[in-house]
Amino acid sequence: MKIAVDGPAGAGKSTIARLLAKHLGLRYLDTGAMYRAITLEALRREVDTGDEEALMKVATSVDLNIVFQGDKGNLIYLNGEDVTNSIREPEVTAHVSAVSSHKKLRDFIVALQEQIAKQGSVVMDGRDIGTVVMPDADWKFFLQATVEERARRRQSELERRGVSLDAGELREQIRRRDHLDSTRENSPLRKADDAIEVDTTSLSVAEVVQKLLDLIKGDDEDVHVCGNNS
Ligand code: DC
Repeated sequence: MKIAVDGPAGAGKSTIARLLAKHLGLRYLDTGAMYRAITLEALRREVDTGDEEALMKVATSVDLNIVFQGDKGNLIYLNGEDVTNSIREPEVTAHVSAVSSHKKLRDFIVALQEQIAKQGSVVMDGRDIGTVVMPDADWKFFLQATVEERARRRQSELERRGVSLDAGELREQIRRRDHLDSTRENSPLRKADDAIEVDTTSLSVAEVVQKLLDLIKGDDEDVHVCGNNS
């Protein structure tokens, strides 16, 4: 079974997709982590994030290793170093949209994601999973939430890691990333025509997971399922 979970920054994709994978006994791939790892290496090498060729050199020269660790999500190794936490630092977040906008880099990373999809059942979360990476997914979900709620979630997540950022500043960052991710020329953030949109603003994580599980098992009467999901 292949499940695509797309949506804007902070809509809860990673948490929901990871738990969904756990409940269904599937692998989980956080595709944003791949773009983040390349961004981290580019920043370390002081590469200009507008220079596609230089970014391709970074992408093709690093050893990027993703370890699937059951219900705990993914561990990300860059040249043998565990960068699972470093790729979430605000500096990486601030540059990752620019890095991920380059076509050659996307083609390179999408090819890696397609290989992982070919290896068997998986839940992937990202921006272009239902539209580009797994257009044939059995289930496509598009998670949404208001900017205010997404900023609030990001703030709690950062606080848990000891980072404090102003809520207004976080809202601005999220708006900026939404804009960059959805207006870029190459596979922009877009809901696939056959994806099911779920507004998570007023739902808990457990409620969203349950809703998606109900849909997959055919227990949710509210939603008319179409396209690949019928
Ligand atoms: O999901 P995230 O916040 O970790 O993603 C980081 C960035 O990577 C996001 O701003 C856009 C990019 N991204 C993408 O372009 N395509 C994906 N499939 C996943 C992430």
